[in-house]
Amino acid sequence: MPQTILITGGAGFIGSNLVHHWRRRHPGDLILVLDKLTYAADPHQIEGLEGVDLVVGDIQNLELARHLIERHKVKKIFHLAAESHVDRSIAGPAEFIQTNLVGTFSMLEAARQAWAGDQACRFLHISTDEVYGSLGETGKFHEGMAYAPNSPYSASKAGSDHLVRAYHHTYGMNVVTTNCSNNYGPRQHPEKLIPLAITRMAKGEPIPIYGDGQNVRDWLYVEDHCLALEVAMLNGVAGETYCVGGDNEQRNLDLVDLLCDTVDAHLGRPQGTSRKLKAFVEDRAGHDRRYAIDATKTQRELGWRPEHIFESGLRATVAWYLPQPI
Ligand SMILES: NC(=O)c1ccc[n+]([C@@H]2O[C@H](COP(=O)([O-])OP(=O)(O)OC[C@H]3O[C@@H](n4cnc5c(N)ncnc54)[C@H](O)[C@@H]3O)[C@@H](O)[C@H]2O)c1
Repeated sequence: MPQTILITGGAGFIGSNLVHHWRRRHPGDLILVLDKLTYAADPHQIEGLEGVDLVVGDIQNLELARHLIERHKVKKIFHLAAESHVDRSIAGPAEFIQTNLVGTFSMLEAARQAWAGDQACRFLHISTDEVYGSLGETGKFHEGMAYAPNSPYSASKAGSDHLVRAYHHTYGMNVVTTNCSNNYGPRQHPEKLIPLAITRMAKGEPIPIYGDGQNVRDWLYVEDHCLALEVAMLNGVAGETYCVGGDNEQRNLDLVDLLCDTVDAHLGRPQGTSRKLKAFVEDRAGHDRRYAIDATKTQRELGWRPEHIFESGLRATVAWYLPQPI
């Protein structure tokens, strides 16, 4: 049955990829995007798509959110709208608290009022593995771990996760939360590491690497994340949380080296050209050392698995940002 779904933050990186993913998989549905169009948004990525309506507005506007849910009989909400850049949260945390915490509260409350206990309606909250803090040399994040956020960004996301949990336990709302590792792929804002590095390499400009470059992240191709969000929405158990990751741990330095080689191959340059652009810069304050995800529960209970190999995902990503090799 065709339906209307609501995606908050659908003009951002993961949200716009999710819009394309959902259109491919559920072509009859109408997709409403609620997005404030901050600096991080790129509405052109979803512009002109049939069956996609962009509503420009703030998720903190409870009345607007409730009106959209009621008017369009929305029964599925993917909540992605957020301030998402850790460096910006260190420089100015206030906006992170407003959008990530107060904004999530407004969306939950709007849905609770509009849905009035209807269990056929589901709120999927998209969160991050950063709520779990930082790992040592071993171990992985999993759903049973205590939260230990270290940056204003991760603390604001942790707070929003707790609100979502509380709306299930207090009001019986049908919610699911996903906590995902670092995404890469098309349509990401150029301030983030991978698009930043690709565009700098293409221009022959220095590629900044924080500290000693030994920080480890678990990288997942964004399309694989979208698939996980789809199965969590359709098959997840109400009140549960699911960790999503690529089982693909990379030290930042190794990632940049691989990216350098991929860009050189794409541009037909001698190997080693881009590696010369690496520039170590002062470390980020409170920089978490290592993130890794144990996605066993998501794989076992939702039947999800990442489909993209890191090397080919990076090649596709480079080709997207640099469509015309020299
Ligand atoms: N990027 C990652 O690697 C990653 C990993 C795990 C989880 N997440 C989570 O996924 C979600 C999406 O991340 P992303 O990387 O696509 O972020 P993004 O910064 O690329 O996009 C965020 C979108 O939200 C919109 N937005 C911001 N404030 C808003 C507000 N007050 N009202 C309405 N819209 C607003 C922006 O305009 C933008 O389009 C976030 O909740 C983030 O915490 C991201």
